[in-house]
Amino acid sequence: MRIVTSVAAMQRLAKEFKAKNVPIGFVPTMGYLHEGHLSLVKRARDLVGNTGQVVASIYVNPTQFAPTEDLSKYPRDLARDKKLCRDAGVDILFVPSDKEMYPAGYSTYIVEESLSKTMEGASRPTHFRGVMTIVAKLFNIVLPEVAVFGQKDFQQAAVIQKMVTDLNFPLRIVVAPTVRESDGLAMSSRNKYLSPAQREQATILSQSLRYARKAVLKHPVSAAQLKSEVAKLISEKNEARLDYVAFFDPKTLKPAEQVKRGDQIALAVFFGKTRLIDNAKL
Ligand code: PAJ
Repeated sequence: MRIVTSVAAMQRLAKEFKAKNVPIGFVPTMGYLHEGHLSLVKRARDLVGNTGQVVASIYVNPTQFAPTEDLSKYPRDLARDKKLCRDAGVDILFVPSDKEMYPAGYSTYIVEESLSKTMEGASRPTHFRGVMTIVAKLFNIVLPEVAVFGQKDFQQAAVIQKMVTDLNFPLRIVVAPTVRESDGLAMSSRNKYLSPAQREQATILSQSLRYARKAVLKHPVSAAQLKSEVAKLISEKNEARLDYVAFFDPKTLKPAEQVKRGDQIALAVFFGKTRLIDNAKL
């Protein structure tokens, strides 16, 4: 596995592979890797085959964190991540510094003006501007044929797909299923922040998804009704504080008034300062 830290070197390598018609599959991450991330690496390998190149990146992108958020304490363990990537069959690990990605005087940002406004975008107003900017930069540096994202961040994948379409990036976005712990909790680097009591109660996110799926199984239910039922379920956990729960069309992200099978549910729940998200198709 090659480890590349400079933008120039990564771009040069990518161009060499392009010239030889070697396809590049790309998995961007912020590191502190878990099985969810590694499932994306496997998917990228399946997509480009053994003769293709799988590139993963690890970069904790400061522009997608608000000043009040967890940038400085976001978990990091590069030595462990390198080993996990090597074992998972990553060919090139791109690990740029802040100086490489945002040199002094940096001033260009990408803003999506529709899909990014609700849910995560409403709770974290500058978040997607940072995500889109860094992902666009990474696409221009890594030059992938295909990039793999997790369904765990459903809205992020939708917003990135929209950017790729709107800005004509010559690549394909593939979305891979959410990998979960055995009790249903979606894997996340942020799960590490949870106290034992919070960790136990954190299954309420996946339980809420199941509750909603069951509720709409036979007939549609009003979104207001279902939201208040999910809110009640979550309020029964003393460590949990609901940020939002949303029901929407998975293609357009338009809110549903009557929630039916095939609609998407997404929710965000605070445990202390830790904010967890999850989503599912109903
Ligand atoms: P990060 O949270 O590290 O996630 C990197 C990728 O892993 C994302 O596509 C995310 O959806 C996926 N992922 C996370 N948990 C997952 C799980 N349990 N199952 C399947 N996939 C999972 O998302 C980001 O980083 C950043 O916003 C990034 C896109 C790298 C831009 O900075």
